[in-house]
Amino acid sequence: MAQRPAEACRVCHAAITPFMTFGRMPLANGFLTRDQIPSEYFFELAPACCARCGAFQLIEQPAPDRMFHDRYAFLSSSSRRMQAHFKAFADFVLRWVLPGPADPFVVELGSNDGSLLRHFKEAGCRHLGIEPSTNVAALARTQGLQTISEFFNDDLATRLRSEHGPADAVVAANTMCHIPDIHGVAAGISRLLAMDGVLIFEDPYLGDMVARTSYDQIYDEHVFMFSAASVACAFGQHGFDLIDVMPQATHGGSMRYVLARTGRYAMSPGVATLLETERRCGLHEPLTYDRFRRDCEASRSALRDLLNTLRREGKRVAGYGATSKSTTVINYCGIGPDDIEFIADTTPIKQGTLTPGAHIPVKPHEAFAAAPPDYALLFAWNHAEEIFEKEQAFKARGGRWITFVPDVRII
Ligand code: SAH
Ligand code: TMP
Ligand code: ZN
Repeated sequence: MAQRPAEACRVCHAAITPFMTFGRMPLANGFLTRDQIPSEYFFELAPACCARCGAFQLIEQPAPDRMFHDRYAFLSSSSRRMQAHFKAFADFVLRWVLPGPADPFVVELGSNDGSLLRHFKEAGCRHLGIEPSTNVAALARTQGLQTISEFFNDDLATRLRSEHGPADAVVAANTMCHIPDIHGVAAGISRLLAMDGVLIFEDPYLGDMVARTSYDQIYDEHVFMFSAASVACAFGQHGFDLIDVMPQATHGGSMRYVLARTGRYAMSPGVATLLETERRCGLHEPLTYDRFRRDCEASRSALRDLLNTLRREGKRVAGYGATSKSTTVINYCGIGPDDIEFIADTTPIKQGTLTPGAHIPVKPHEAFAAAPPDYALLFAWNHAEEIFEKEQAFKARGGRWITFVPDVRII
């Protein structure tokens, strides 16, 4: 592609250039009605990986209040498996905070409908969720979970610290990678955390995305795809050490990061090992992203070929899971209503809408059950196990699954 003028890395300020573009993209959760089509918003989805600090990031990201508002379409509670994961995550955090000072205080960034936060309340902890999307925050409040609807930043942290005192843990799941001003967040967390407090967060992991060509992780909300190196670099500038890392199977391969103020806790040997693995794999090198770009293009061709063949054969194809990630796949691969009749999704707010960009109808799961297609394109591939378990009848009557991670295949 043509070289664009260099931009500055959001983490270390070195010059960066996108290694590819996915083209003009709508908002990943911009589900819309027919009358909203003329004013649909688009931006250029172009990622770069900083060769100096390893921060994988979007060059352009829509303004936060375009993405997170009173109609945010993603609900944490939509996956049963994720619910179990949040319980395990909370137990992990509680092992850090419960032995500490009496009356521990846990703050969660991006607490959504309270799927993680509720476990801190149930453990008797003082808790506070920060959730700017007011519709999902309201769902948390109905469960008695303390939630404020604002974007976390340094100013908010100042206020929270004076109103509530220091936090013993700041936690986040699939949220840190959504916030463009990483330095504002890190400064705010430093302000809010007690001296021996910990920051524990998890996000989809860059290494998994590259290894599995799961390019659908790249969309407007994911302004970063973190690695251990980029996390250490970003938070190191604010007096934090990365003291532990733990791979997670969730969302197609994630990483849990534990950080604390420099020198307060021993560093697990796993951190050095992961940093070394990232170096050895060339996770931050331009050559890796030349290859990744080619892998994305090959994946797109294979999926297009398969959908073209099925269309020629007159097969009925539906999508399964109107995920945020699917917006990238659908629009990058030029998939439209002629390829896919509809996408089934269990989230009420998505049902009856059209998908962003391609305008494929989203229907409730009942539509899938009532008239099962010949093939189901599994956009929610990260929930494959849970879905296969639920959809045994589809398979039994001859339905076939199509997946595209790590490669395009009929299952
Ligand atoms: N933690 C949940 C939700 C992840 S989606 C889960 O793992 O399922 C990301 C969430 O972060 C959204 O609910 C969004 O509204 C919220 N968010 C976005 N920017 C934020 C910010 N600056 N501070 C706090 N939350 C933010
Ligand atoms: P996620 O991959 O970002 O978690 O989004 C999952 C989407 O898939 C969400 O819109 C809900 C939908 N979904 C279903 O429709 N059926 C299911 O069984 C599961 C697990 C998810
Ligand atoms: Zn950088």
